[in-house]
Amino acid sequence: MALRFITAEEAATFVHNDDNVGFSGFTPAGCPKVVPGAIAQRAIEEHAKGNPFRIGMFTGASSGDKMDGVLARANAVKFRTPYQSNKDMRSLLNAHGAEYYDLHLSEEAQDLRYGFLGKVDVVIAEAADVTEDGEIVPTSGVGILPTICRMADRIIIELNCRHPKEIRGMHDIYEPLDPPYRREIPIYKPSDRIGTDCVKVDPAKIVGIVRTDEPNEGKKFSPLDDVTMAIGQNVSDFLVSELKAGRLPKEFVPLQSGVGNVANAVLGCMGENKDIPAFNIYTEVIQDAVIGLMKEDRVKFASGCSLSVSNEVIREIYANLDFFKNKILLRPQEISNNPEVARRLGLIAINTALEADIFGNINSTHVCGTKMMNGIGGSGDFTRSAMLSIFTTPSTAKDGNISSFVPMVSHLDHSEHSVKVIISEYGVADLRGKSPIQRARCIIDNCVHPDYKPLLNEYLQMGIKGHTPQNLKCCFAFHEEFMENGDMRKVDWSKYNK
Ligand code: COA
Repeated sequence: MALRFITAEEAATFVHNDDNVGFSGFTPAGCPKVVPGAIAQRAIEEHAKGNPFRIGMFTGASSGDKMDGVLARANAVKFRTPYQSNKDMRSLLNAHGAEYYDLHLSEEAQDLRYGFLGKVDVVIAEAADVTEDGEIVPTSGVGILPTICRMADRIIIELNCRHPKEIRGMHDIYEPLDPPYRREIPIYKPSDRIGTDCVKVDPAKIVGIVRTDEPNEGKKFSPLDDVTMAIGQNVSDFLVSELKAGRLPKEFVPLQSGVGNVANAVLGCMGENKDIPAFNIYTEVIQDAVIGLMKEDRVKFASGCSLSVSNEVIREIYANLDFFKNKILLRPQEISNNPEVARRLGLIAINTALEADIFGNINSTHVCGTKMMNGIGGSGDFTRSAMLSIFTTPSTAKDGNISSFVPMVSHLDHSEHSVKVIISEYGVADLRGKSPIQRARCIIDNCVHPDYKPLLNEYLQMGIKGHTPQNLKCCFAFHEEFMENGDMRKVDWSKYNK
């Protein structure tokens, strides 16, 4: 079937009000970059005529401003799932301008197949190549592409020439069967290839191809500050001590590391520490630090869902594809984040907490219990199933006015049962084999900022009986004080403990 090339504006006419749209990619990597803008423009024009125009959005994870940003600002979003990090999208969701449901990323594709989330009407997919017989080669991020392409009625391709056709071979596309026919996912080491090198669709569903040369919205990392470096160093030292104690095998186990600056710093510190052997990565997001470590032979292989790297680094990868193709596999998030595989490989999972409580529960998503930051992302997929689950966090936020350690988390994403270790710039709280009161003492002694240690020790000593010594009259005093007076340090327990 001949390929049909169209403009972004023509492509947008295939998307109708109330459609559910599936998007390729994971983080800005691999997301479409021009058709969403044309859809947003259509929404603005329809709204001006007094007509409704809003779409449902199924994405892999977060996306760029050219997708989430433009659609949010055009008020063109009916619902959004499973993860976002765009300022305007976040404001829209928190103002109930669109419904948002936060999902474990590994579950989205199967929830779609199970019929839990509704229909996928149309897919917009960025591709490095597309053939007349319906072979789509993804670019630098895969997300939920195979599933949405199979389920959708119509597919629009953004053929992006910034991504060479020769990237073909870097992807491993695999969709499990659904129960009761599902078998084990046969990945026994991060480099195991189990699927195909492209997404195969019925070519009749491809309604048009839009050519583009828009670059990824690649993020530059902030320069490392003292706090971030200290966290990275503490993680790296802790892992060395685990190796020496024989609790980690001498060959080491694959690493999953979360998103952002802290994750990048942790990887950098691990790479520099020669007491840690060269290691493999089994993760969702492959960041800049991984690529640097690969060139130094400190990272042997990386399996992920996207190359969420700066544009400088993606150019380097594409210029040296022969080297990197043997060292990287990009998989659908159902596989990159699969709990079965995480448990089998025995991962070390390192993710960042927004807030932790002194008993080891983690809030990754909600500021003061109500305002959505980004979403749970893949943190739950990995934390529950890893061999060793670590959370990192700076001890304070907002110039010290917020303690990241509170009596009770204001929203729960990861419970005390899944969280094995918490690390701040002050040190390491190893929670394994400890009761709630022992965990609380360990966290206060090792991780809490000195400004907040007395307050949290007083909280523990307020004489509450029971296995977990919470005081339900006071457990949100830190949050209330911050919301009223802008500073958690101002907590006066006598005001609350009446
Ligand atoms: N209360 C209120 N705000 C807080 C806070 C708290 N307890 N802790 C941090 N913040 C604020 C920071 O001040 C910062 O605000 P700013 O953007 O206005 O500067 C913002 O939250 C981000 O914090 P930062 O320290 O820069 O951390 P980060 O960029 O590493 O993000 C998470 C931290 C938790 C938001 C992020 O890791 C996340 O979304 N995690 C969930 C998903 C996940 O773990 N994915 C990885 C799985 S593979």
